[in-house]
Amino acid sequence: MASWRIERSDAVRGMASLESGSVDLCYLDPPFGTGRTHAAARGRFADAASEPHAYEAFMRPWIDAIHRVLTPHGIVLLHCDWRHVHRLRLWLEERFGAEGFVNHIVWRYGLGGSSARRFARKHDDILFFAKGSEYFFEPPRVPATSARLRGRMKKATDVLDVPSLNNMAHERCGWPTQKPLQLLDLLVRACCRPGGLVLDPCFGSGTSLIAAVASGRRARGFDVDPAAVAVAEDRLRSLDGEPRLRTRT
Ligand SMILES: C[S@@+](CC[C@H](N)C(=O)[O-])C[C@H]1O[C@@H](n2cnc3c(N)ncnc32)[C@H](O)[C@@H]1O
Repeated sequence: MASWRIERSDAVRGMASLESGSVDLCYLDPPFGTGRTHAAARGRFADAASEPHAYEAFMRPWIDAIHRVLTPHGIVLLHCDWRHVHRLRLWLEERFGAEGFVNHIVWRYGLGGSSARRFARKHDDILFFAKGSEYFFEPPRVPATSARLRGRMKKATDVLDVPSLNNMAHERCGWPTQKPLQLLDLLVRACCRPGGLVLDPCFGSGTSLIAAVASGRRARGFDVDPAAVAVAEDRLRSLDGEPRLRTRT
């Protein structure tokens, strides 16, 4: 089988075409519900509505579809932020059960401004749910920061310190909201067995798919935006020696 396949499609429609119980890990970084339009050199997309009921109507079908396509012990990592993390956790709990909750991961990215009105917002949230208790998990190791362990590696905690991409970063491909490969590499290796299938139903520039293929997993993805498909395809093709298949709908 080809190691990656991407399609231009709405997430829910795309996932409906997948077999039930076929996906080991679903990572998604869906529209955060900012109500804004994101624009950069190679992409521009309208985020989902910020109003809670509109966002619920938008996201609930995604959660149902993800639950269906996951293997009996599959994992979902839902990347979000302060706007809707509390709602998304409840909706995930309703579908996966309270016992499906594994972690509320904090991605502390560092960059960004300050505020005179509140504590500056410097993290995103990644909700980790598993469909069954026998899920795959290989604890990632990160550099220790305590004086006692300085220079050694230790198991990562649920707070991940990974710098966000600055404008000069080598891996920047011009997609607004592009996430760092270092973050996705850590998550994919931790939560998907080698050879397993990683799904990203709204891949944007394709960072999760690159992390999957580069670490010996298979990748499947959907995005509604043709510009995202073009950017992700460029990035995937630049990986060496892998069979390729792309389908546009
Ligand atoms: C936050 S970006 C993903 C960024 C990505 N993680 C990266 O590293 O580049 C969200 C993506 O969701 C896509 N999107 C929005 N609505 C969608 C839908 N209904 N189905 C599939 N993709 C959608 C947008 O086109 C955009 O590429």
